[in-house]
Amino acid sequence: MKKAIIFICGALLSSLLLADTITTLRSSPIDQEATPPALGNYVNDDSKQHRNYPMQPPIIPHHVDHYQTDLFANKCLSCHARKRTSESQAPMVSVTHYMDRFGNFRADVSPRRYFCRQCHVPQTSADATVENTFIDMDDLPSNEAK
Ligand code: HEC
Ligand code: HEC
Repeated sequence: MKKAIIFICGALLSSLLLADTITTLRSSPIDQEATPPALGNYVNDDSKQHRNYPMQPPIIPHHVDHYQTDLFANKCLSCHARKRTSESQAPMVSVTHYMDRFGNFRADVSPRRYFCRQCHVPQTSADATVENTFIDMDDLPSNEAK
């Protein structure tokens, strides 16, 4: 019993101490609406970036401001759909975008791939807020020996 009380007191004390150090993503009191920060300056140089691994969705090298994607319109497909690429000179969505969940190829882009920005993102020139320790597989020590 004594042990349990000591444990509970300890837990309470440590949670009090932690309370000061835990941060939150909320920037204003819960009953007030904060002004969101301005959007970044998207990289818009139209040049393909290398992919960090073969399955990586390529990043978007152009701006996407006001590109609407909803039930009625998909601005991305107005250039990237199979039938639009000769006109737009955009790369066609790859064949994986036509696969349904059973691996069958459909006649059109699968609903699973309809919301492009679930996977493809534009980039800003902002400094990374968190350090990234990712190592490209070609730079791993086991591959350098080759
Ligand atoms: C006006 C035509 C147009 C629209 C609309 C458009 N794109 Fe593009 N996109 C291009 C062209 C052209 C390229 C080739 C590189 C370049 O010129 O920017 C490209 C390149 C890309 C690439 C790079 C492909 C690679 O292999 O590196 C991705 C990813 C992409 N677009 C995604 C999108 C997404 C997602 C949207 C909608 C939010 C979109 N695009 C809307 C024309 C368009
Ligand atoms: C579920 C994630 C996902 C969604 C949603 C998605 N993509 Fe992709 N996309 C990928 C991945 C992963 C790749 C790279 C591997 C591949 O080709 O499947 C890719 C590749 C591409 C490429 C390069 C094709 C090539 O052959 O170089 C283009 C262009 C592209 N996507 C455009 C789009 C557009 C436009 C949409 C929306 C209609 C979209 N994607 C939706 C994951 C996604």
